[in-house]
Amino acid sequence: NHFVRDSVSNQLSDYAEKHEGEQTSITTGSGNPVGEKDASLTVGYHGPTLLQDVMLLDDLSHFTKERNPERVVHAKGAGAFGYFEVTHDITQYTAAKPFSELGKRTPIAVRFSTVAGERGYPDTVRDVRGFAVKFYTEDGIWDIVGNNTPVFFVKDAALFSSFIHVLKRNPVTNVRVDYDMFWDFVSLRKETTHQTLITFSDRGIPRSYRHMHGYGSHTYSFINAQGVLHWVKYHFITNQEIQNMSSKDALRIAGEDPDFHTRDLYNAISTGDYPSWTFCIQVMTQEQAQKLSYDPFDLTKVWLHADSPLIPVGRIVLNKSPSNYFAEIEQIAMDVAHLIPGIDISPDRMLQARMFAYRDTHQYRLGTNYNQLSVNSAYRVHNYSRDGYGTVVSQGGAPNYHPNSFEGPVIDKRARALSPCLPLHGDAKRIDSGHDDNFSQARLLYTRVLKEDERVRLVENLVDWLKRTTKKIQRRAISNFEQVHKSLGTKLREALNLSEEFHIEF
Ligand code: HEM
Repeated sequence: NHFVRDSVSNQLSDYAEKHEGEQTSITTGSGNPVGEKDASLTVGYHGPTLLQDVMLLDDLSHFTKERNPERVVHAKGAGAFGYFEVTHDITQYTAAKPFSELGKRTPIAVRFSTVAGERGYPDTVRDVRGFAVKFYTEDGIWDIVGNNTPVFFVKDAALFSSFIHVLKRNPVTNVRVDYDMFWDFVSLRKETTHQTLITFSDRGIPRSYRHMHGYGSHTYSFINAQGVLHWVKYHFITNQEIQNMSSKDALRIAGEDPDFHTRDLYNAISTGDYPSWTFCIQVMTQEQAQKLSYDPFDLTKVWLHADSPLIPVGRIVLNKSPSNYFAEIEQIAMDVAHLIPGIDISPDRMLQARMFAYRDTHQYRLGTNYNQLSVNSAYRVHNYSRDGYGTVVSQGGAPNYHPNSFEGPVIDKRARALSPCLPLHGDAKRIDSGHDDNFSQARLLYTRVLKEDERVRLVENLVDWLKRTTKKIQRRAISNFEQVHKSLGTKLREALNLSEEFHIEF
């Protein structure tokens, strides 16, 4: 029952108790003591306010700028801090510093999120959840910016912005969800089928951020001390066990407590019930990857555990909530391009495009020097960039040009030795990857992973959304689901009162 007074409700009382007798005097933003806070400076009682009221100007001119642009996706979220601890030796696969010895701890920050809603949107909606982990390593920042699902709807960045548009508000009505937009797109692009089934399964509404797994989703590369490259996928397996929420409960809670998941995370950490996840990897040699029957770099597909079992690596534990949400979570800048020696990317089209998108958006959202905000800053930065809005770091007077003969920073030989060397070949052309096998893994999910009661709820959830779109789009969507499994198509058609005789219009 979240209506009892919990750690969230007691935040202010806890502050007062902790700081009893330590009350300070108010200052302006420039630290100047303020002698009156309840009245502005006017000429007489009804007189005009004087421009020389610097206390008022200081307050209001800050207030009018208290918002920054919200994230274009994943705007609503919650986060916390903790550590990653190595429990198993994987130095045979990577020379990355966080894995260098058993028991080693690396500080981390984690941000969970929903994808489609805005900053104030309810937590308990049917959506994918973001699961982003920032590691503060000796080699700088390393981020895994993943989701609570191992796959994604599309696999070519050329389709990403359109896919996000169909999740977001209709540009004319300003209403979301626009069911026509959503089902039109997903039924036209069949590679969305696998992720659509996951999103409409029970896992589409987790019980809390603590009760879900996280995945890096993409294939990355690990490089070991000998320079050998392996392909790798990341999994964060929840130690709280998977728990989901029924659509009915989720709908009620969205109204009663839109911040339900945010509250849950804060309360758990405040009461010492620290959430943790077992960090596992799947690994493949380049030769193994070449022999797979599916594309190992296809973001709409998992690596089957039969092809590559989970290898435990360590655990992540969250034991501290932010002391100011805006400073430490709203301003956190997760980026798949934050990589450290021993870890690199792969020939996955989506991942390649993400290398561009995050830095670009952070500079827009947080400013040129977002890396200097304390939640984003590495232990040491030595480069040739200087200045711009919000500069804090001086780099101690070192030269700002390269090459130089004045003791400026030089290349890191270890980083050079650990750079992957990939033989690339092929013609430069645009190849639509949407015609690969889009249904085999979705079928495995439907027939082998989901139990009968879960399949029933999947159909109910699909029908609940599909019934709101046009017959034409329903038919096209069903013809895709039919290719997952005949019975899935039949159940949907029956529930939607659609006859089998139809002509699919594309
Ligand atoms: C956030 C772009 C694919 C997971 C974001 C943001 C952008 C973006 C612009 C906002 C970042 C910010 O303002 O801090 C893209 C593009 C993609 C893509 C262009 C494909 C080409 C993906 C995929 C995943 C993912 C495939 C998961 C596997 C996330 C997460 C966040 C995020 C978790 C929130 C990070 C946080 O909590 O701060 N993405 N994204 N994105 N994205 Fe992506």
